[in-house]
Amino acid sequence: MILKLVVTGANGQLGREVARQGGKHELLLAGRDVLDISNRVAVTAFLKAHKPDAVIHCAAYTQVDRAETDENGAFLVNVIGSQNLAASCLEIGARLVQVSTDYVFDGTKRQPYREFDAVNPQTVYGRTKWQGEEIVRQILGRHYIVRTAWLYGDGNNFVRTMRKLATGNPVLKVVHDQVGTPTSTVDLARVIYKLLESDAYGTYHATCQGQCSWYEFACEIFRQDRKRVLVEPVLTEQFPRPAKRPAHSVLDNHMLKMTIGDPMRSWQEALQEYLAQD
Ligand SMILES: NC(=O)c1ccc[n+]([C@@H]2O[C@H](COP(=O)([O-])OP(=O)(O)OC[C@H]3O[C@@H](n4cnc5c(N)ncnc54)[C@H](OP(=O)(O)O)[C@@H]3O)[C@@H](O)[C@H]2O)c1
Repeated sequence: MILKLVVTGANGQLGREVARQGGKHELLLAGRDVLDISNRVAVTAFLKAHKPDAVIHCAAYTQVDRAETDENGAFLVNVIGSQNLAASCLEIGARLVQVSTDYVFDGTKRQPYREFDAVNPQTVYGRTKWQGEEIVRQILGRHYIVRTAWLYGDGNNFVRTMRKLATGNPVLKVVHDQVGTPTSTVDLARVIYKLLESDAYGTYHATCQGQCSWYEFACEIFRQDRKRVLVEPVLTEQFPRPAKRPAHSVLDNHMLKMTIGDPMRSWQEALQEYLAQD
């Protein structure tokens, strides 16, 4: 199936990988310079002019700490932007892939979160991403809401930060009491394209397999890099940030396993591929 696809946020970390994996499909790459999703008139005109089969919506207000003092800014992008896209998709008969986050949960569950678990966002970012999900559900039936976490790819991310910090710092202090699953944009983009081949609309968790703390993630980066770096585990309270991070935000890809049957790779395997190429 060859699809005509619009990619929002095409210059972001995930947008770039979605563009790279476009393959046989006809892609219209819409970075912020091409399409500001918060502009309803522009979104309507763009989608009506191009009439894609689907929109892969990778644009978002992702500055978690800044959002705490810029609620309207985050709302405009994460909620109104999603509303604009969903409404235009409805009008032209297109499907929508809405990318969301583990921050919709409060991180207090000790087991991996499943798709139908109750949300309880603790931050402005998490709340606006949840509201973005909800507005898509209300407007457009043919949606795939794909929640991911701890994403890294071609952009600013934890792996690049650790590699940079390793030169010139004898000891790195990394948080050990937040647990999640590092996820490569390669794996996430792959699953998005698989979902688009199906009509299995709904809400999905899509992270790599396994779990670790940020400290364990850092140790694994240096182990695979064969670098001797002293990493010291520390507590979240030693690194106060404006936005609260969920302590335990491991996601269970239950819906993916039950529909398209793709559990995704282990986080260590995906990391190995990334480190070899980045
Ligand atoms: N990164 C993570 O760890 C993580 C974890 C869970 C979920 N997610 C979700 O995954 C998705 C992709 O994240 P990412 O890591 O690729 O983020 P990213 O690198 O920050 O990319 C987001 C892109 O959206 C663009 N954008 C912001 N406002 C816009 C607007 N009004 N109109 C059009 N484009 C706009 C940004 O452009 P500018 O650079 O010009 O602002 C940026 O290119 C997002 O939905 C995010 O919430 C990310």
